[in-house]
Amino acid sequence: MLATLWLASLSLPMLWAQKLINCPYKNVCHYALLSGNDVILQCNHPKALWYFSSSMEDKLSLLNSMSNVKILPRSNLQLTNPQPSQTGLYRCLDDHKTRVVEYEIDFQDIALLHVTHKDLGQTPMGNETMDLGGEVVVFTRWDPWQDCNRCEKPGERKRLGYCYVEEQLGKSMPCWLYMREKVTHKRLRPELQLQACQVPCDTITETNQPYFVFDTHQLDKTNDHVWLSCPLASIYR
Ligand SMILES: *[C@@H]1O[C@H](CO)[C@@H](O)[C@H](O)[C@H]1NC(C)=O
Repeated sequence: MLATLWLASLSLPMLWAQKLINCPYKNVCHYALLSGNDVILQCNHPKALWYFSSSMEDKLSLLNSMSNVKILPRSNLQLTNPQPSQTGLYRCLDDHKTRVVEYEIDFQDIALLHVTHKDLGQTPMGNETMDLGGEVVVFTRWDPWQDCNRCEKPGERKRLGYCYVEEQLGKSMPCWLYMREKVTHKRLRPELQLQACQVPCDTITETNQPYFVFDTHQLDKTNDHVWLSCPLASIYR
């Protein structure tokens, strides 16, 4: 019984562990995300091909040269440890070369993350007017707060904020999709905000968490240092 459960959970990790990005059929969607955290771009087509154009180069080519991408069943595209240089357009085309979906994705540099804690009186970055070949407002667009990391006891929760540019007509765009070049400025950064929280326990979710055994490690007595990495960790949850 235990062995069956273990095998069943091993076949699932991809789906619940990675952030799924989707876009309605035949549409173009813009997303700001963070570098270094795996995502899956959904195409949901039995036999489609992916094309990529870097926002710096503007040259569309078949996406098979990147070492950290993998085409999953139903032509969904898995990006492992995506880099800021992979910011650009991802187009999924069917066998008649017509668009199934298209994504414009800004992988904002996690190394630039501006971290603040609300309950320590630290404030996120404010709006700033900048001249980026025309006057624009740079601001942070916040995701919803994520779940509290503990229940019953005091815990913390976080939310992610992405760098966006608002143009004159109230239209906004992720910073590096807007600029299409490598501009550095102290306001051009993604953010993470923390907050204290305390929530009751939800017994159903608490007791139904899948689990994995990735490795077993014997502590070496002559060396106290051990580095534990969490293979399915993600900043998105
Ligand atoms: C910052 O700019 C955004 C976009 O223009 C706007 O929605 C938001 O209300 C502004 N925030 C403040 C504090 O002015």
